[in-house]
Amino acid sequence: MNDPAHKSVASGPLVSDQLGRPLRDLRISVTDRCNFRCVYCMPKEVFGKDYQFLEHRELLSFEEITRLARVFAQHGIEKIRLTGGEPLIRRKIENLIEVLAAIPGLDLTLTTNGSLLAKKAQALKAAGLKRITVSLDSLDDAVFMKMNDVDFPVARVLEGIDAAAAAGLAPVKINMVVKRGVNDQSITAMARHFRGSGHILRFIEYMDVGHTNGWRMDDVVTAREIIDMISAEAPLTPADPHYRGEVAQRWRYLDGSGEIGVIASVTQAFCRDCTRARLSTEGKLFTCLFATEGHDFKSLLRSGADDAAISQQITRVWRARNDRYSEIRTAATVKLNKVEMSYIGG
Ligand code: GTP
Ligand code: 5AD
Ligand code: SF4
Ligand code: SF4
Repeated sequence: MNDPAHKSVASGPLVSDQLGRPLRDLRISVTDRCNFRCVYCMPKEVFGKDYQFLEHRELLSFEEITRLARVFAQHGIEKIRLTGGEPLIRRKIENLIEVLAAIPGLDLTLTTNGSLLAKKAQALKAAGLKRITVSLDSLDDAVFMKMNDVDFPVARVLEGIDAAAAAGLAPVKINMVVKRGVNDQSITAMARHFRGSGHILRFIEYMDVGHTNGWRMDDVVTAREIIDMISAEAPLTPADPHYRGEVAQRWRYLDGSGEIGVIASVTQAFCRDCTRARLSTEGKLFTCLFATEGHDFKSLLRSGADDAAISQQITRVWRARNDRYSEIRTAATVKLNKVEMSYIGG
């Protein structure tokens, strides 16, 4: 995982943004498509049959992604996370992983809904993926199907998780987005199920990403509530972060049966240490998950820019960055026309 062996091999300028934050993580969305229609991310009423996804020629090619990733690595990137949409539906994703894995000093990981994982885990590991994060919102089929909205059963995601662990993609992290009145009854059962498994379950506060999920503060179950609920059954104690700016707060079971995490992005914003840049499927660089505008790197690449020009543009964008959306969220910002999570990656 995030062990000290993963130190970057930066040879380019190490830049800080307006708030003194370095650039450390690059999250690359490889497709804006997904085979799920999670109600909090790609609601069917918006992402229906007529929804216009990007055309193949609009996507960054694997060569383009790799080229950008190499230049980013020179700027101090220590981790690359592949996201989507659902990254495993991008054809031949293993080929991309293979070339990214060859960049020295990088922690390389991926976030998936797990639906294709049983089939692909071995190939991903063989290509050089180090670890994996799987989203799973409930162990109860009725609740899970209501959330993924495509009747996808829990058992197949669990098979994917088992296959990932068996392939050595460890530790497997499990992400559960909690939405009040929808899956909050599943919190303790999920904790019980994964306790002692060696996998790390993380609960995510439901966020107002994008502008189509109809987010309301009332729908958020706070990290505090979640910890209290689980602690009542199995006492927890806070654990130190693995690294500065870690998104999840870690909590350990007092009886030694493992750890969980909570991602309190709404009630305890962590912008102060946010070192993440996000590259969209079509090659726009976003400096915040809640951004409304990105910086077009695809045009730069396709206009024949050399690595030095790309490097300069990275420096320019990062130096100007002053985002801290979660710290300044208001009723007005919630209504902004922010990019969708499925487009920018989680
Ligand atoms: P590792 O520590 O590398 O395992 O990953 P991580 O903790 O960054 O976890 P992951 O990338 O799986 O992120 C988990 C979830 O946290 C995401 O799916 C988002 O919902 C949320 N999240 C991640 N990064 C940010 C961020 O920069 N801002 C906000 N507001 N939420 C984030
Ligand atoms: N709030 C919180 N997390 C979300 N995710 C998707 N949409 C939201 C949201 N509105 C999570 C997914 C997955 C990751 C990519 O982001 O469940 O774990
Ligand atoms: Fe797909 Fe993940 Fe969004 Fe669900 S949260 S619709 S699995 S991209
Ligand atoms: Fe980073 Fe923006 Fe998330 Fe704050 S809201 S942690 S600045 S991505």
